[in-house]
Amino acid sequence: MLDVDLLAGPMRDMTGSGDEVEAARSALRDARRVLVLTGAGVSAESGIPTFRGEDGWWKRRDPMELATPEAFGREPDEVWAWYDYRRRLIADAEPNAAHRALAGWAGDGREVRIITQNVDDLHERAGSDDVIHIHGSIWRVRCTGCGAVYEDRRAPLPELPPTCDRCGDHPVRPDVVWFGESLPAAELRRVQAVFDRGAIDLALVIGTEAVFGYIRQWAELARRAGAMLVEVNPSRTGLSGIVDLRMAGKAGEVLGGLGDGDAP
Ligand code: OAD
Repeated sequence: MLDVDLLAGPMRDMTGSGDEVEAARSALRDARRVLVLTGAGVSAESGIPTFRGEDGWWKRRDPMELATPEAFGREPDEVWAWYDYRRRLIADAEPNAAHRALAGWAGDGREVRIITQNVDDLHERAGSDDVIHIHGSIWRVRCTGCGAVYEDRRAPLPELPPTCDRCGDHPVRPDVVWFGESLPAAELRRVQAVFDRGAIDLALVIGTEAVFGYIRQWAELARRAGAMLVEVNPSRTGLSGIVDLRMAGKAGEVLGGLGDGDAP
């Protein structure tokens, strides 16, 4: 049964019929294995801009000038200024109801694996463990000389670009994936392990345009592993046509409602 709050609130915006929404709630209630693919939209309600939305970064800035190894080679200060700004935004932000709901669903025999394209740490700060960061972390840096990778959580950074505090000789870069670069092998192995473990009951794709083929592929694989595939996004995306249920709304509102009263 949908509760009154949900009917008065975001549920009205869902494109799925009441039966479908109830099916999603029931899938979540019964699910032992849940896979969650998140993108920038899951952090939007925490005040972190998305990339391709109306106020998104890529509407104002050219990704080729901020998120490529070539841009970093040409203008490391400019690239770092953008990352430093985003580090400060993220440091000041709080996890929202979506991050908290996902963290709350895990446990008591239910596994919730999160694969995020986000470089922020809001899933972890909400309490989710073992999040797979397929595009790296904004809090890690990698030395362009000695290759050392380590955490640096200072925000703002005292100098741009920062110098490696291991070798002391070379600038470090953010340990994130830029356009034209490969996904990190260790994280890809962790994704593979998720699928190697067999049946998945429920898969949610939340707040992503799913522009990258691997996101669409993982959503498809989850479906082939038996999952009910649900998209949570106020707008339609390239994945909308293949999902079992679209929940058209903001992640915090939709997920907060989906799990209500569903704790196993
Ligand atoms: P995008 O900015 O492309 O897409 C954000 C999605 O979130 C859109 O589909 C929005 O409709 C949706 N959205 C906005 N607000 C939302 C909310 N409150 N709740 C739920 N959904 C909401 O971001 P990503 O798909 O994550 O990579 O982008 C993928 C990658 O492209 C990023 O990791 C970044 C970017 O270039 C690199 O920089 C390598």
